[in-house]
Amino acid sequence: MRTLIAGNWKMHGSKDWSRKPAEFDETLPSRQRTGIDVLICPPFPYLAAMAKACEGLDIAVGSQDCHANSSGAHTGETSAEMVADCGATYAIVGHSERRAAGESDSDACQKAEAALRAGLIPIICVGETLEQREAGEALSVVEGQIKESVPYGYDDYVIAYEPVWAIGTGKVAEISDIKEMHDHIRGIVGANTRILYGGSVKPGNAKDILATENVNGALIGGASLEMADLAAIARSA
Ligand code: PGA
Repeated sequence: MRTLIAGNWKMHGSKDWSRKPAEFDETLPSRQRTGIDVLICPPFPYLAAMAKACEGLDIAVGSQDCHANSSGAHTGETSAEMVADCGATYAIVGHSERRAAGESDSDACQKAEAALRAGLIPIICVGETLEQREAGEALSVVEGQIKESVPYGYDDYVIAYEPVWAIGTGKVAEISDIKEMHDHIRGIVGANTRILYGGSVKPGNAKDILATENVNGALIGGASLEMADLAAIARSA
Protein backbone atom coordinates (compact mmCIF):
# COMPACT_ATOMS: atom_id res chain seq x y z
CA MET A 1 0.00 0.00 0.00
CA ARG A 2 1.41 3.41 -0.99
CA THR A 3 1.81 5.96 1.78
CA LEU A 4 -0.20 9.16 1.29
CA ILE A 5 1.29 12.43 2.50
CA ALA A 6 -1.52 14.97 2.21
CA GLY A 7 -1.27 18.69 2.91
CA ASN A 8 -4.45 20.54 3.88
CA TRP A 9 -3.75 24.23 3.36
CA LYS A 10 -7.12 25.22 4.90
CA MET A 11 -7.78 28.94 4.26
CA HIS A 12 -4.15 29.82 3.57
CA GLY A 13 -2.32 30.81 0.44
CA SER A 14 -2.47 33.13 -2.54
CA LYS A 15 -2.02 32.97 -6.30
CA ASP A 16 1.74 32.93 -6.06
CA TRP A 17 1.69 29.78 -3.92
CA SER A 18 1.53 27.87 -7.21
CA ARG A 19 5.34 28.07 -7.02
CA LYS A 20 5.23 25.74 -4.00
CA PRO A 21 4.91 22.39 -5.82
CA ALA A 22 8.15 23.12 -7.73
CA GLU A 23 9.74 24.14 -4.44
CA PHE A 24 8.65 20.82 -2.92
CA ASP A 25 10.02 18.89 -5.90
CA GLU A 26 13.37 20.65 -5.63
CA THR A 27 13.61 19.61 -1.97
CA LEU A 28 12.36 16.07 -2.55
CA PRO A 29 12.45 15.07 -6.24
CA SER A 30 9.92 12.53 -7.43
CA ARG A 31 12.59 9.84 -7.99
CA GLN A 32 13.21 9.92 -4.22
CA ARG A 33 9.50 9.47 -3.48
CA THR A 34 9.03 5.84 -4.47
CA GLY A 35 6.14 4.31 -2.58
CA ILE A 36 4.81 7.71 -1.51
CA ASP A 37 1.91 9.71 -2.95
CA VAL A 38 2.04 13.45 -2.25
CA LEU A 39 -1.14 15.52 -2.28
CA ILE A 40 -1.81 19.22 -1.77
CA CYS A 41 -5.30 20.54 -1.00
CA PRO A 42 -5.44 24.31 -1.57
CA PRO A 43 -8.53 26.53 -1.26
CA PHE A 44 -11.04 26.21 -4.13
CA PRO A 45 -9.99 29.32 -6.10
CA TYR A 46 -6.47 27.94 -6.53
CA LEU A 47 -7.32 24.37 -7.55
CA ALA A 48 -6.88 24.79 -11.30
CA ALA A 49 -3.64 26.77 -11.03
CA MET A 50 -2.26 24.26 -8.52
CA ALA A 51 -3.17 21.33 -10.76
CA LYS A 52 -1.29 23.02 -13.57
CA ALA A 53 1.67 23.77 -11.30
CA CYS A 54 1.79 20.10 -10.24
CA GLU A 55 1.87 18.74 -13.80
CA GLY A 56 4.90 16.52 -14.32
CA LEU A 57 5.90 16.69 -10.64
CA ASP A 58 4.01 13.61 -9.47
CA ILE A 59 2.09 15.68 -6.92
CA ALA A 60 -1.69 15.31 -6.77
CA VAL A 61 -4.19 18.07 -5.99
CA GLY A 62 -7.38 17.82 -3.96
CA SER A 63 -10.17 20.03 -2.66
CA GLN A 64 -10.98 20.56 1.02
CA ASP A 65 -14.70 19.92 0.52
CA CYS A 66 -17.29 19.45 -2.23
CA HIS A 67 -21.06 19.68 -2.53
CA ALA A 68 -23.26 16.59 -2.64
CA ASN A 69 -24.98 17.71 -5.86
CA SER A 70 -23.41 17.95 -9.30
CA SER A 71 -24.93 21.34 -10.09
CA GLY A 72 -27.87 23.51 -9.15
CA ALA A 73 -29.00 26.53 -7.17
CA HIS A 74 -26.46 26.27 -4.35
CA THR A 75 -24.92 29.71 -4.03
CA GLY A 76 -21.32 29.64 -2.90
CA GLU A 77 -20.90 25.89 -3.27
CA THR A 78 -18.57 23.84 -5.49
CA SER A 79 -19.42 20.42 -6.88
CA ALA A 80 -17.14 17.40 -7.07
CA GLU A 81 -17.44 17.53 -10.86
CA MET A 82 -16.06 21.09 -10.82
CA VAL A 83 -13.22 19.98 -8.57
CA ALA A 84 -12.40 17.16 -11.01
CA ASP A 85 -12.73 19.56 -13.95
CA CYS A 86 -10.00 21.70 -12.35
CA GLY A 87 -7.62 18.74 -12.51
CA ALA A 88 -7.92 17.59 -8.91
CA THR A 89 -8.11 13.90 -8.04
CA TYR A 90 -8.97 13.93 -4.32
CA ALA A 91 -11.54 15.68 -2.09
CA ILE A 92 -11.41 15.95 1.70
CA VAL A 93 -14.88 15.53 3.21
CA GLY A 94 -16.17 15.70 6.77
CA HIS A 95 -13.19 17.58 8.18
CA SER A 96 -13.74 18.35 11.86
CA GLU A 97 -13.65 22.09 11.15
CA ARG A 98 -16.64 21.56 8.85
CA ARG A 99 -18.31 19.20 11.30
CA ALA A 100 -17.92 21.94 13.93
CA ALA A 101 -19.79 24.25 11.53
CA GLY A 102 -22.71 21.82 11.49
CA GLU A 103 -21.81 19.13 8.99
CA SER A 104 -23.10 15.64 9.91
CA ASP A 105 -21.97 12.10 9.12
CA SER A 106 -24.73 11.93 6.56
CA ASP A 107 -23.47 15.13 4.87
CA ALA A 108 -19.96 13.68 4.77
CA CYS A 109 -21.33 10.46 3.32
CA GLN A 110 -23.22 12.25 0.52
CA LYS A 111 -20.19 14.37 -0.28
CA ALA A 112 -17.94 11.30 -0.35
CA GLU A 113 -20.35 9.60 -2.73
CA ALA A 114 -20.47 12.71 -4.93
CA ALA A 115 -16.67 12.74 -5.01
CA LEU A 116 -16.56 9.08 -6.02
CA ARG A 117 -19.17 9.63 -8.75
CA ALA A 118 -17.01 12.44 -10.11
CA GLY A 119 -13.99 10.15 -10.19
CA LEU A 120 -12.30 11.69 -7.13
CA ILE A 121 -10.90 9.81 -4.16
CA PRO A 122 -12.59 11.11 -1.00
CA ILE A 123 -10.56 11.49 2.17
CA ILE A 124 -13.21 10.96 4.82
CA CYS A 125 -12.24 12.57 8.14
CA VAL A 126 -13.26 11.17 11.51
CA GLY A 127 -12.12 11.78 15.06
CA GLU A 128 -13.29 12.14 18.64
CA THR A 129 -13.35 15.24 20.84
CA LEU A 130 -11.34 15.42 24.06
CA GLU A 131 -14.53 14.99 26.06
CA GLN A 132 -15.37 11.80 24.19
CA ARG A 133 -11.83 10.44 24.65
CA GLU A 134 -11.88 11.19 28.36
CA ALA A 135 -15.23 9.43 28.65
CA GLY A 136 -13.68 6.32 27.06
CA GLU A 137 -15.82 6.68 23.95
CA ALA A 138 -13.12 7.36 21.33
CA LEU A 139 -13.26 3.95 19.62
CA SER A 140 -17.05 3.77 19.50
CA VAL A 141 -17.43 7.40 18.33
CA VAL A 142 -15.00 6.89 15.46
CA GLU A 143 -16.56 3.54 14.56
CA GLY A 144 -19.98 5.22 14.38
CA GLN A 145 -18.62 8.06 12.23
CA ILE A 146 -17.06 5.60 9.78
CA LYS A 147 -20.20 3.50 9.53
CA GLU A 148 -22.30 6.61 8.81
CA SER A 149 -19.82 8.57 6.66
CA VAL A 150 -18.50 5.92 4.27
CA PRO A 151 -20.84 5.44 1.29
CA TYR A 152 -21.98 1.89 0.67
CA GLY A 153 -20.54 -0.08 -2.21
CA TYR A 154 -17.31 1.82 -2.89
CA ASP A 155 -13.71 0.82 -2.24
CA ASP A 156 -11.58 3.69 -3.39
CA TYR A 157 -11.64 6.02 -0.41
CA VAL A 158 -9.21 7.09 2.30
CA ILE A 159 -9.95 7.48 6.00
CA ALA A 160 -8.22 10.25 7.97
CA TYR A 161 -8.29 9.76 11.72
CA GLU A 162 -7.87 13.19 13.29
CA PRO A 163 -8.56 13.50 17.01
CA VAL A 164 -10.27 16.90 17.21
CA TRP A 165 -8.21 17.94 20.23
CA ALA A 166 -4.95 17.35 18.31
CA ILE A 167 -5.79 19.55 15.31
CA GLY A 168 -3.83 22.78 15.25
CA THR A 169 -3.10 22.52 18.96
CA GLY A 170 0.42 21.07 18.93
CA LYS A 171 -0.93 18.15 20.98
CA VAL A 172 -0.31 14.78 19.38
CA ALA A 173 -1.97 11.54 20.38
CA GLU A 174 0.27 8.96 22.07
CA ILE A 175 1.64 6.41 19.62
CA SER A 176 -0.12 3.66 21.61
CA ASP A 177 -3.46 5.50 21.21
CA ILE A 178 -2.84 6.04 17.50
CA LYS A 179 -2.04 2.34 17.09
CA GLU A 180 -5.13 1.28 19.03
CA MET A 181 -7.40 3.51 16.93
CA HIS A 182 -5.82 2.61 13.58
CA ASP A 183 -6.01 -1.12 14.39
CA HIS A 184 -9.67 -0.61 15.27
CA ILE A 185 -10.34 1.28 12.01
CA ARG A 186 -8.50 -1.42 10.03
CA GLY A 187 -10.96 -3.95 11.45
CA ILE A 188 -13.85 -1.85 10.12
CA VAL A 189 -12.60 -0.83 6.67
CA GLY A 190 -10.60 -3.93 5.70
CA ALA A 191 -7.08 -4.44 4.43
CA ASN A 192 -7.05 -2.24 1.31
CA THR A 193 -8.10 1.17 2.61
CA ARG A 194 -5.47 3.74 3.46
CA ILE A 195 -5.83 5.16 6.96
CA LEU A 196 -4.13 8.51 7.57
CA TYR A 197 -3.36 10.09 10.92
CA GLY A 198 -3.83 13.84 11.29
CA GLY A 199 -3.44 16.35 14.09
CA SER A 200 -0.25 18.38 14.66
CA VAL A 201 1.92 16.13 12.48
CA LYS A 202 5.32 17.83 12.13
CA PRO A 203 8.81 16.88 10.89
CA GLY A 204 9.78 16.09 14.50
CA ASN A 205 7.04 13.54 15.20
CA ALA A 206 6.24 12.20 11.72
CA LYS A 207 8.74 9.33 11.73
CA ASP A 208 7.27 7.61 14.78
CA ILE A 209 3.68 8.22 13.68
CA LEU A 210 4.27 6.96 10.13
CA ALA A 211 6.14 3.89 11.43
CA THR A 212 3.05 2.83 13.41
CA GLU A 213 1.23 -0.23 12.15
CA ASN A 214 -1.89 0.58 10.12
CA VAL A 215 -0.87 4.20 9.66
CA ASN A 216 -0.70 4.62 5.88
CA GLY A 217 0.07 8.30 5.73
CA ALA A 218 -0.72 11.66 7.24
CA LEU A 219 -3.10 14.59 6.75
CA ILE A 220 -1.10 17.67 7.60
CA GLY A 221 -2.40 21.18 8.22
CA GLY A 222 0.00 23.75 9.67
CA ALA A 223 3.20 21.95 8.69
CA SER A 224 2.08 21.61 5.05
CA LEU A 225 2.34 25.35 4.45
CA GLU A 226 6.14 25.23 4.36
CA MET A 227 7.47 22.94 1.63
CA ALA A 228 10.63 22.19 3.63
CA ASP A 229 8.45 20.82 6.45
CA LEU A 230 6.14 18.89 4.13
CA ALA A 231 9.16 17.40 2.36
CA ALA A 232 10.77 16.46 5.68
CA ILE A 233 7.57 14.66 6.69
CA ALA A 234 7.41 12.87 3.33
CA ARG A 235 11.07 11.90 3.64
CA SER A 236 10.44 10.29 7.02
CA ALA A 237 7.69 8.04 5.56
P1 PGA B 1 -2.82 20.39 11.85
O1 PGA B 1 -4.16 20.16 11.00
O2 PGA B 1 -1.75 19.55 11.20
O3 PGA B 1 -2.54 21.86 11.71
O4 PGA B 1 -3.10 19.96 13.23
C1 PGA B 1 -4.51 18.89 10.53
C2 PGA B 1 -5.85 18.92 9.85
O5 PGA B 1 -6.74 19.66 10.29
O6 PGA B 1 -6.05 18.23 8.83
